[in-house]
Amino acid sequence: MKALLLAGGRGTRMRPLTHTCNKHSIPIANKPLIQYPFEMLVKAGINDIAIIVNETREEIEKIFGNGSKWDVNVTYIFQDHPGGLAHALALSEEFMAGSKFIMVLGDNILERGLEKYVEKFDNSSLNGLILGVKVPIEKHERFGMATIKKKTNDLIRYVEKPGVVDKSDLYDPKNSYAVPGFYFFDKNIFQCFKGKDKIKPSARGELEIASPYNWLIEHGYKVKLEIVKGWYKDPGNPEDTLVTNQIIMDSFIEFDVKGEVDAESKLSGKVKIEKGATITNSILRGPLVIGKDCVIKDSYIGPYTAIYDNSKIINCEIENSIIWGNVYMHDVKTRIDSSLIGWDAEIREKEEMPRASKLFIGDNSLVEL
Ligand code: DAU
Repeated sequence: MKALLLAGGRGTRMRPLTHTCNKHSIPIANKPLIQYPFEMLVKAGINDIAIIVNETREEIEKIFGNGSKWDVNVTYIFQDHPGGLAHALALSEEFMAGSKFIMVLGDNILERGLEKYVEKFDNSSLNGLILGVKVPIEKHERFGMATIKKKTNDLIRYVEKPGVVDKSDLYDPKNSYAVPGFYFFDKNIFQCFKGKDKIKPSARGELEIASPYNWLIEHGYKVKLEIVKGWYKDPGNPEDTLVTNQIIMDSFIEFDVKGEVDAESKLSGKVKIEKGATITNSILRGPLVIGKDCVIKDSYIGPYTAIYDNSKIINCEIENSIIWGNVYMHDVKTRIDSSLIGWDAEIREKEEMPRASKLFIGDNSLVEL
C-alpha cells in the first residue's frame, strides 16, 4: 500500500502562529505535529509516501527530505490552492498508479497507530474504508459524520460538518460516527473526478472528502467503517494543541537526561533533556521536554512544558506551555501558564518607569494580562 499525507490548507484557526509557519510544523512535545502521522504510516509498513504541500513546502521538505532517515521514499505533490481534501486526493492519481492507499491528514494522531487498519484494508476486497469515533452530539458539526448500517458497519451516507458545510437532511445523528482523518481507497476512487457525474465542490467552494465516499456507495462499491479504540486527536486550535501536547507527553515521554544538570537543580517525573542543554539552579517537574542547547537557569519548569531547541529561560516560571525554538525569556515575575510562544520571541519584565505593559505583537494574537 501507498500513502498520501496532507500538509496543505490554510491553518486559519492557529493564527497568528501560522502567519509565518505551516501549522503542521508546530512542535508537539518538541516534534513537528506532522511527524506523528508520518511515523504512524512508517510503523504500519508503508514505504512510499506522497506529501501534499502548499507554498510553505520548504518547511515540510526540511523535516522529511527524501525520507531516507526513516528508510522510506517521500515524494512531494504541490497543491496550488486549498481546494479541499478531495482536491488533494485527486492530485495523487499518477503517484498511486493503481495501488491501494491511505490518505492521512497531517494534523491527526491516533494513540494505537494504523497497523491494524492497514492490514485489514490491504487484505480485504473493500473499495473504501473509514474510521469512526463516537463524539457528543454538540460536536458533530466539527467533523465529517458517517451513518452506517448496524451489525455490518456498511457506510450508508457521509455528511461533512452537518448543519455547517452540508445542510442536507441525510444525516442520522444516532447512527453516526465522527470520521478522523484516515481514509482508505483503492484505484476506483479516481473515477469520481471524471465524466458527467463527477463530484462537485460544496457551497464553500471545496471538494469535500465526503463526496468521493458517497460517490463510491452510489456506484455500487463497498465501503465500511471501523471503530477506533484508544484516543484520537486533531489539534485544530491553540487549546486543543496544548491538550494534545499533554496527551503525547503522558503517552510517549520517558525519563532521559542527555544534557547537563548541576547539583542545585531538582528533577522529578518524566523529564527529557536533549544533548547540549544546561540546567542550573532550577526545578523541573515532568512530564516535560527541553530541546538541544537550551539554557535553563534559576527557573521553575512545570508539567507539560515543551521547550524547543536553543531557547534560553532565565529566572522565570513556566507550566503547561509550548515554547518554540530560539525563545528568550528572562526575569518575568508572573508564572507563564497554558501559553504558545512562537519562534525567536523574547519575553522580559520591564524594569524602568513607567511600569506599563509594552507589547509588540502580530496580527490575530491573544494576550491575557
Ligand atoms: O480532523 C478530522 C476532520 O478533518 C474530518 O472529520 C473532516 O471531515 C475533515 O474535513 C477535516 O476537517 P478540518 O476542519 O479539520 O479540516 P482542515 O481544513 O483543518 O484540513 C485538514 C487537513 O488537510 C490539514 O492537515 C490541512 C490539510 N488540507 C486541507 C485543505 C482544505 C490540505 O492539505 N489541502 C486542502 O485543500
